Amino acid sequence: MAIEPYAWLEQSLATISRANWFRSVQTIKSLPGAVVQLEGRDVINFASNDYLGLSGDCRLIEAAVAATKEYGTGSTGSRLLSGNREIHRKLEQAIASLKQTEDALVFSSGYLANLGAITAVVGKRDLILADQYNHSSLKNGAILSGATVVNYAHLHLEDLHKQLAQHRKNYRRCLIATDSVFSMDGDLCPLPEILAISEQFNCMVLIDEAHATGVLGATGAGCVEHFGCTGQTLIQVGTLSKALGSLGGYVAGSTTLTDFLRNRAPTWIYATGLSPADTAAALAAIEIIQQEPNRRTQLSKNADTLKQLIIKQLPQLKLLPSESPILCWQLDSAADALAVGKKLQAAGIFAPAIRPPTVPSSRIRLSVMATHELAHLQQLVDALANIVHELMNNQQ
Ligand SMILES: Cc1ncc(COP(=O)(O)O)c(C=O)c1O
Repeated sequence: MAIEPYAWLEQSLATISRANWFRSVQTIKSLPGAVVQLEGRDVINFASNDYLGLSGDCRLIEAAVAATKEYGTGSTGSRLLSGNREIHRKLEQAIASLKQTEDALVFSSGYLANLGAITAVVGKRDLILADQYNHSSLKNGAILSGATVVNYAHLHLEDLHKQLAQHRKNYRRCLIATDSVFSMDGDLCPLPEILAISEQFNCMVLIDEAHATGVLGATGAGCVEHFGCTGQTLIQVGTLSKALGSLGGYVAGSTTLTDFLRNRAPTWIYATGLSPADTAAALAAIEIIQQEPNRRTQLSKNADTLKQLIIKQLPQLKLLPSESPILCWQLDSAADALAVGKKLQAAGIFAPAIRPPTVPSSRIRLSVMATHELAHLQQLVDALANIVHELMNNQQ
């Protein structure tokens, strides 16, 4: 009997749909910003990682155009072969200067930076201690490395300590890996305490600053700066695609680390160098975040204002704890989260539902931008209030 080898795809999709986990895309037809045109109408954008509003900034666009004219559209090969340009090095020096590290290495995405760094520094004889809510790139990097992976409970220092006391002695090297700002929750890892534990158990620490770079710290260097840990030996990974408004990723740390990664990180060695346009846009963004700290101040002001408005006007709305511009409203089911996302969109607010398997419990994720105006925040709160009252009436 002939077996149809792809038949399982449809069955699997049907299962995904039944659980309300089916995903599809929506198309934006305008420049990125606090207001975007989505499916033919203007909506206030609470779905973007463009925290500082830089990805539509004319200075980034001009830098990308100029680099494309000078170097072409693609970098044509691995950095080790034909793909290296002066502008890559300039960007790496700018990242190292922002992070106050000896050096930095640019990858083609933040995802690839995590895969590359983790698979380079640990292997089969080693141990990874990972926060259970780490981003997919940290989780898959850990699996790909072949190291033994032990998850500790989210932000739970006692659990981290307990697991290390139990397992550390059986392994050669150990890496503690954590998001700095957790992307789907908005809370922060307790970095100083993690560094203290890492010293006690002779572990390396890798921190993913994807949602903190440009957002936290006096100069926008991230969670490491926010906690006063600048200059400590650790592996800092991040992306150029969120507050920096471009595309690409990086690892920042010691010169020894970046030299090692140039020789051992497969996602750097065997992938095409970042495009000239993305590289130039990220470089322009770093200059702007250093010259315009008011963007960061405004972002933090906007996030605080939104939290206060929700706490005052909607005390019944279950917000997850957050110390960042990411605010999450936890809902009971994927179906509820989808329905709320649709109602928000109908009210002119773009804030999509985040569902399993991305997160353990469904939620609406609200991402605040420096370029949101007070009226945008108030319009969001008004829309939320209408939905909360509707839900309460339905329950009675
Ligand atoms: C915490 C975290 N790390 C890494 C990434 C991946 O970065 P990139 O989009 O540059 O691949 C993301 C998001 O996309 C993220 O949220």
